[in-house]
Amino acid sequence: MSELAVQKNTETSFASPVLKWAGGKGMLLPQLSPKLPNKLRCGAIKKYIEPFVGGGAVFFDISNSYYFEEAYLFDINPELVILYNVIKNNVLELIDELERLQISYFSSTDRKEFYYQMRDEYNSFDKKIDANNYSLSFIRRAALTVFLNRTCFNGLFRVNSKGLFNVPMGSYKNPRILDRENLIAVSKALSKATILQADFAKALDFADNNTFIYYDPPYRPLKDSSFTTYAVETFDDNEQIRLKDVFEQAHKLGALQMLSNSDPTNLGPDPFFDDLYHNYNIYRILAKRLINANSDGRGEIREILITNYGV
Ligand SMILES: C[S@@+](CC[C@H](N)C(=O)[O-])C[C@H]1O[C@@H](n2cnc3c(N)ncnc32)[C@H](O)[C@@H]1O
Repeated sequence: MSELAVQKNTETSFASPVLKWAGGKGMLLPQLSPKLPNKLRCGAIKKYIEPFVGGGAVFFDISNSYYFEEAYLFDINPELVILYNVIKNNVLELIDELERLQISYFSSTDRKEFYYQMRDEYNSFDKKIDANNYSLSFIRRAALTVFLNRTCFNGLFRVNSKGLFNVPMGSYKNPRILDRENLIAVSKALSKATILQADFAKALDFADNNTFIYYDPPYRPLKDSSFTTYAVETFDDNEQIRLKDVFEQAHKLGALQMLSNSDPTNLGPDPFFDDLYHNYNIYRILAKRLINANSDGRGEIREILITNYGV
């Protein structure tokens, strides 16, 4: 085994997602891990790109385990990009802000009133702001993203058509608003990352033959259930096809790539992804997901995993 083999990243302590996020891949990590490319395991990948970073479960898991020089993380959600850049650049100030919020929340005689005050403040921020133009004013905004995610109903992130966060208060007795150790670990993991509010096609600006890309787009909804809980459902089949074109172009640039999605064959014959990615490797893995069609709302279903390399 070469010296590079299983090059563990010793510089960062264990980082895990800061937010609860729809479609988070935390539960799937044991199934995704064996399908990662050997080139990543042996430390020969220089760039990691995740164009739909969401809660970042996969990025954090990979950066806890493997060494790479730089990461490029994108999402179209501006609040995620603002939060990750604040954690990267101003983590101590964010910790102070969260500590103040935590104290105020726990000592408040009317938590409900406090929650809705914070939600109003959050909704008063400029929704048209350029999330890629970093500003210190983002610290408070990022703190409120964490606070609301920890205290709202089900840890949902949901905005209405005007971009206003509209999730009611949750019923957690003792929500952990500040997790100092994790924020420090996440800040270290993000120190080598460029985090941008961008469309997934941005990956093509950075992909080369020393790159690994993991794509986790919004699920293609199964016919009689809805797994997607994002605010604006714009990720239709045309978007899935546009994504496949990006996959193809990055393949030509020499990048190693893995993509996950829901498996339409769960509900009967539907060769959508099998046709779209017929030139690549397609695997099926089992996932525990919310399924509206089931009476108890839960079940094991297949998800699809596509790679352009053998495992
Ligand atoms: C399934 S989630 C990713 C979950 C993530 N893997 C995790 O573990 O938390 C999909 C993400 O794609 C983002 N998204 C939707 N359309 C996008 C686009 N065109 N370009 C980039 N990101 C997009 C959504 O905001 C969402 O955060």
